[in-house]
Amino acid sequence: MNQFDPFADFRMDNHVAIVTGGAQNIGAGIAKTLSGAGAKVMIADLNGEKAAETAAAIAKETGNECTGMACNVTDKADIDSVVSATVDSFGGITTLVNNVGWGRRQEDPEAIPEEEFVESYKLNTISAYRMSMACLPYLEKAENAAIANSGSFSSAMPAADILPYGTAKAALNQMMVSLAHRLNKRVRVNSILIGTVMTAGYGDAGVSPEMQERLSHPDNLTGRPGSAQDVANAMLWLCSRASGWVSGQTINVHGGGSVVRLFGE
Ligand SMILES: NC(=O)c1ccc[n+]([C@@H]2O[C@H](COP(=O)([O-])OP(=O)(O)OC[C@H]3O[C@@H](n4cnc5c(N)ncnc54)[C@H](O)[C@@H]3O)[C@@H](O)[C@H]2O)c1
Repeated sequence: MNQFDPFADFRMDNHVAIVTGGAQNIGAGIAKTLSGAGAKVMIADLNGEKAAETAAAIAKETGNECTGMACNVTDKADIDSVVSATVDSFGGITTLVNNVGWGRRQEDPEAIPEEEFVESYKLNTISAYRMSMACLPYLEKAENAAIANSGSFSSAMPAADILPYGTAKAALNQMMVSLAHRLNKRVRVNSILIGTVMTAGYGDAGVSPEMQERLSHPDNLTGRPGSAQDVANAMLWLCSRASGWVSGQTINVHGGGSVVRLFGE
């Protein structure tokens, strides 16, 4: 009989995770996967109603506690509320997934209003810093404490059509490495550079169906766009003991693609 369980290190029993932006798409996939692995999960999302609905559906499916609440991660008071609510409900925090983020397509990359950069930086970068610092007192007390960020492959290559987003995500990469070093031996910090996962967010960001078609063109090494589950699988690894010797890293989960192509050749 095989007594060795290679999946044991991926279990998230005795873990408490906050997943920001977990009401839908990639974040919901991450929340469900961490919950299915045994973690108690708090979904913190701008859309409190949807967060609660998604959390209830996850709890039903996984049999583990999962709660959702309204939280604007660019608002300090909201961040403090979600941290307090998580600790009150679940007794601590072991895991933070900074998943919130997004940006807009720029019609003219040569005339981007300054505010676009500032807003993008607040949403994609500063929010992750503030969430991390607010959770830190609890993470420091936890075994296998981890912060994992939803980054973007657009942070690591030319992507002028989404310049404020790409630069803010690039700053997130730098923050991740610096925090990983600062918090060494206390909290592991990593990021996933996510490729094209077809979500409603693309439409909301002004990417037309034709552009989405080009983005999902099978020119990556796997020949398909990604799914929320593809990202969630990597997040589970980064949050669990299975990646206990990994910190300060950006992990590419993008099908091996390396081309951002909104407007074709
Ligand atoms: N979809 C992709 O192809 C792709 C590619 C690269 C990186 N990413 C990154 O992955 C993450 C998730 O992407 P997605 O496509 O699932 O996004 P999405 O837009 O579908 O979902 C984002 C969620 O975050 C919530 N949210 C937005 N602003 C918020 C705020 N201020 N406070 C709290 N919650 C807020 C929204 O309500 C929503 O539920 C983002 O960081 C995104 O930049 C996505």
